[in-house]
Amino acid sequence: MQLSSTQTIPEISGVPRHLAIIMDGNGRWATRRLLPRTAGHMKGVQTVRRVVEQCGQAGVKYLTLFAFSSENWRRPEDEVSLLMRLFVQALEKEVHKLEKKGVRLRVVGDLSRFDPHLRELIQQAEAKTAHNDSLHLTIAANYGGRWDILQATQQLLLARPELAQDPTALNETHFSPYLSMAFAPEPDLFIRTGGEQRLSNFLMWQLAYTELYFTEIYWPDFNSDHLKAAFEWYGQRERRFGRTSAQL
Ligand code: FPP
Repeated sequence: MQLSSTQTIPEISGVPRHLAIIMDGNGRWATRRLLPRTAGHMKGVQTVRRVVEQCGQAGVKYLTLFAFSSENWRRPEDEVSLLMRLFVQALEKEVHKLEKKGVRLRVVGDLSRFDPHLRELIQQAEAKTAHNDSLHLTIAANYGGRWDILQATQQLLLARPELAQDPTALNETHFSPYLSMAFAPEPDLFIRTGGEQRLSNFLMWQLAYTELYFTEIYWPDFNSDHLKAAFEWYGQRERRFGRTSAQL
């Protein structure tokens, strides 16, 4: 089981062990070029490839990408279906490469709303890469941080109904194994591209002590120098986890 930053002080190093990214700005990147928003998402897939590669080389162990939030269903139908198609294409085309490169792929989120073909591809991709351990790549799809906390609570109470009779006994150790990212340490570094400074219902529980990095760069333009700059910024953070500087 992974340690919790509010229970124990995690071991830290210069390179984030777990990087979580909100890949924002695809639509604006395209609009600026008088292209349909969907062109921005297609270009964004290329950035995903580059970032996965660079994270592997830099020694990042867990990379989590927010590809589709539980609120993204509110977008125009053609944009939602393009995103689904990109997802299917990526799974069909890229999984073989990921498998060879030692990448373990997981998809977290409420998959019940996806069509059966996509769910099948996800299951196959996860099974095919399950033996890998060099980089754990997680795609958050139809994911919402509040959904995650609620589904974990539901699962916990189903598994341990006696806890409902004694709620004060309930603690993090009971709860956190049911979160959908329970297999990973909490993110060390969070990056949001595209200029907005919000979490947009991403990993609400897990980001408690994460260093937050915001950049104006649109996701399709986010290149290796930008990622390096984020790593350098991270390397200079003083991570205190509630302690004083003098205690470090
Ligand atoms: C946010 O930009 C981006 C998304 C909602 C989708 C991200 C998806 C990809 C990069 C492609 C698919 C990913 C995989 C893993 C195959 P936005 O549309 O909100 O941009 P805007 O804020 O400029 O409108």
